[in-house]
Amino acid sequence: MNQVLKSNDLCWCGSGRKFKRCHKAAADRVRPGRVTPMRPVPPEIPRPPYAETGEVERRPEPRVKTADVLARMRVAGRVAAEILQVVGAAVRPGVTTEELDALAHEEYLRRGAYPSPLNYHGYPKSICTSVNEVICHGIPDDRRLADGDIVNVDVTAYVDGVHGDTNATFLVGEVDEASRRLVQVTRECLDLGIAAVRPGRPLSDIGRAIQEHAEAQGYGVVRSFIGHGIGEQFHTDLHILHYYEPRLTTEMEPGMTFTIEPMITMGDWRHRMWDDGWTAVTVDLKRTAQFEHTLVVTGDGADVLTDLSSVSSALS
Ligand code: MF3
Ligand code: CO
Ligand code: CO
Repeated sequence: MNQVLKSNDLCWCGSGRKFKRCHKAAADRVRPGRVTPMRPVPPEIPRPPYAETGEVERRPEPRVKTADVLARMRVAGRVAAEILQVVGAAVRPGVTTEELDALAHEEYLRRGAYPSPLNYHGYPKSICTSVNEVICHGIPDDRRLADGDIVNVDVTAYVDGVHGDTNATFLVGEVDEASRRLVQVTRECLDLGIAAVRPGRPLSDIGRAIQEHAEAQGYGVVRSFIGHGIGEQFHTDLHILHYYEPRLTTEMEPGMTFTIEPMITMGDWRHRMWDDGWTAVTVDLKRTAQFEHTLVVTGDGADVLTDLSSVSSALS
């Protein structure tokens, strides 16, 4: 281990507090590791416009999708969900996030999908892996997952010209009760956000539902990273906030597609950016969790496009 002090020992700093309540988070913090070069994608797999240059040019895109775009988004959503499931099953102590990325990359290619994160604004990997205090956009590297970590895996697949975006936080080995509760409440926040989706209602309903639940449980809601419209482009100008913003009066309409992806913190919700320009961590280094789905607004609610269970139950 990287420290001699045990959790319940008095902290070295002389505060008189237990180490775990004082400087332990800083001692245990996630550190940047070694990142391997971008993995190639075979030329026969269709790629989004930014794949070659890393530059993302926004084009106007209708918020309400055609039946054709929606049908393709169901496929992309399902592919992303499948890959997330495969990678999640590989999470265990000792595995590196780089190994998870390699596995994910293979799974995209097997399905004829382009890994949407790869070279998006220059992002170097095929998934994001965000450990413990990392809020989002952690870059897979040679760090081994340790017993007791939590890790979010974020998968986005580009299939037949559209994207499907989903993520989940996984427990690594034996995880302490407080972190398990954080992960559970974060999952509930996503579920409540989805349950708030209703045509004719303002988008602010979503963030209100999420924030109410998170704060009632004593947690924070990250403000700087938000959900987004999605379709032929990875991120469109539709903004989905995870906290209550009364000015967000845009009405939800049937056929609109967007993600909901709350990031919930045990402490301060503000972030600091690593020097890599991607990895966002909580300022107090306390843990944070996230879950994400891509969905379409229906006539009376939401249809989740990245949920394996709903698809399989519909078929059975
Ligand atoms: N999938 C992330 C999201 O939920 C975005 C990742 S951007 C990347 O919006 F460049 F880091 F891949
Ligand atoms: Co997203
Ligand atoms: Co995502």
